[in-house]
Amino acid sequence: MTIDDQTSTAEHAEFAPPEAWDAIATGYAEHVAPGEQPVSAAALDLVGLRAGDTFLDVAGGPGGLGLAAARLGATVLSTDWAPAMVARFEERVRAENLANASARVMDAHDLDLEDDRFDVTGSQFGVMLVPDQASALHEMVRVTKPGGRVLIVAYGSPAQFEALQFFIAALQRVAPDFEGLPDPPPLEFQVSDPAVLRERLADAGLQDVHVDTTHQERLELPNGRDLWNWMLYSNPITGMILDEVGAGEADRTTIRSALEEMIRERAGADEAAIVTAPLNVGWGVKVGGR
Ligand SMILES: C[S@@+](CC[C@H](N)C(=O)[O-])C[C@H]1O[C@@H](n2cnc3c(N)ncnc32)[C@H](O)[C@@H]1O
Repeated sequence: MTIDDQTSTAEHAEFAPPEAWDAIATGYAEHVAPGEQPVSAAALDLVGLRAGDTFLDVAGGPGGLGLAAARLGATVLSTDWAPAMVARFEERVRAENLANASARVMDAHDLDLEDDRFDVTGSQFGVMLVPDQASALHEMVRVTKPGGRVLIVAYGSPAQFEALQFFIAALQRVAPDFEGLPDPPPLEFQVSDPAVLRERLADAGLQDVHVDTTHQERLELPNGRDLWNWMLYSNPITGMILDEVGAGEADRTTIRSALEEMIRERAGADEAAIVTAPLNVGWGVKVGGR
């Protein structure tokens, strides 16, 4: 097995279209979204969201911040450019009878919403990865009320993103030439440096900008298949890389076995392994009084 063109892998991945996100929406809702609720709740707490506030989730998927905000009693609009993600969000709020939440298909770069509407506008692992982050942040600020807050939750250093590093090591068992993430890394990590996130929030016109680096994503994984599913359904990049290196069924079985070994080793005597990733939680205030 060889890698013909690793650069093209990164380029494809950077521009994963809405259909690629649609294709993983059901898996994302099942294998990824539930584990992110503690992160969402912590981020909304940092930004001071209260019951009765209006909250916009941008690139909200099947329910990250938007679901946590609705459970808190905020009036929520969740947006995403992938219709299947929006449909999964709608299913979840129906299942939980959250009448205070709705969802619409929308591109983060061009929100079809009026100015100055929301008390808090947030995006978790969404605007983090878009190609024109400055315009997406500008849109988030535009639709936020003066005095309201804009929140971004993003991954920190990819070197400390354990699920990713486990996956790269497992993939290298069948594709020894695979060198890991390209340099620079994919857009997913464009604000992995907290100073860059701070600068971008300030450049978007926000004041009183904070970036918290004390929170982690903590995945509790009973076995290797859980890590495989998390990697496969959290981002279309994983499937693209597997295709790019030509990983067939036998290779995928080898990768899953390697992940199983890693999870067993990490878990030790415990039932599940804890696998972490550093987070940058940034927020700022839109200029103007309330
Ligand atoms: C990693 S998921 C995060 C989902 C959710 N925010 C969460 O915390 O679980 C990224 C989401 O961003 C969406 N997305 C990517 N680019 C987008 C864009 N330009 N406009 C709107 N949504 C976008 C994808 O469809 C996907 O649902």
